[in-house]
Amino acid sequence: MRISINEIKDMKQKGEKITMLTAYDYITAGIIDEVGVPLTLVGDSLGMVVLGYPSTIPVTIDEMLHHTKAVVRGTGRTIVIGDMPFMTYSNISDAQRNAARFIQEAGAQTVKLEGGVNMAETVRSIVSCGIPVMGHIGLTPQSINQLGGFKVQGKSDEAAARLLEDARALEQAGAFAVVLETVPAPLAALITRTISIPTIGIGAGAGCDGQVQVISDILGLFTDFVPKHAKQYARLAEASRAAITEYVREVKDGTFPTEQQSFSMDESILDRLTK
Ligand code: KIV
Repeated sequence: MRISINEIKDMKQKGEKITMLTAYDYITAGIIDEVGVPLTLVGDSLGMVVLGYPSTIPVTIDEMLHHTKAVVRGTGRTIVIGDMPFMTYSNISDAQRNAARFIQEAGAQTVKLEGGVNMAETVRSIVSCGIPVMGHIGLTPQSINQLGGFKVQGKSDEAAARLLEDARALEQAGAFAVVLETVPAPLAALITRTISIPTIGIGAGAGCDGQVQVISDILGLFTDFVPKHAKQYARLAEASRAAITEYVREVKDGTFPTEQQSFSMDESILDRLTK
């Protein structure tokens, strides 16, 4: 039985920290689920992490649905959140139709979209269809061209007030939680105290109700760039490089496979075959 969004809301009331991770495939999602992470986001970071695009903007709804299906198949407890890609919720009818695809075709339980006050009507309309929505404000990568780069958001009086308004608008529109990305920690803490729904931070400090990280960042799958908000809990790129190098060496020098990885047969069959 999957966790419900009410349980996530209750965690805020009880002061219990909420964890969330991204996943894009069956095997990783299964591990996340087994460990007991209550929220799993099939983020549109898929585009950069798995598909090799330069940003999240080229990601299509069909790519998102394909990976969301795999994550749903790999999990049984966690709430799966489908991240709505760029321009798939720019008007209410597209938003409702595409949100429904995540639920109906891919089997996700909720969707996430970027935007605050400007998206409040859209959030309300999706929620009115019975689809729980997670908001996402602060640094919103789908608007990177408008934001002018990956910068900390909400640093001026005006920008901080706007972010607080965005969070309130999402709460009023019926979002069940909101991601705060790359927001100064004191502002994220103020937003968290002000709204009744859980805040999930990424680069937003410890004062949020929960934290989200991109799975490849915490597993150390990329070594050339580690974002400031991320902590590597493992170094899987190095471990993978070492394992693949050893495999190649063993195949070349004949030490792999051994009898342990081979299958035997009645040798008399071979004798008869070669007679
Ligand atoms: O796409 C994503 O991975 C995200 C998280 C960074 C919140 O939106």
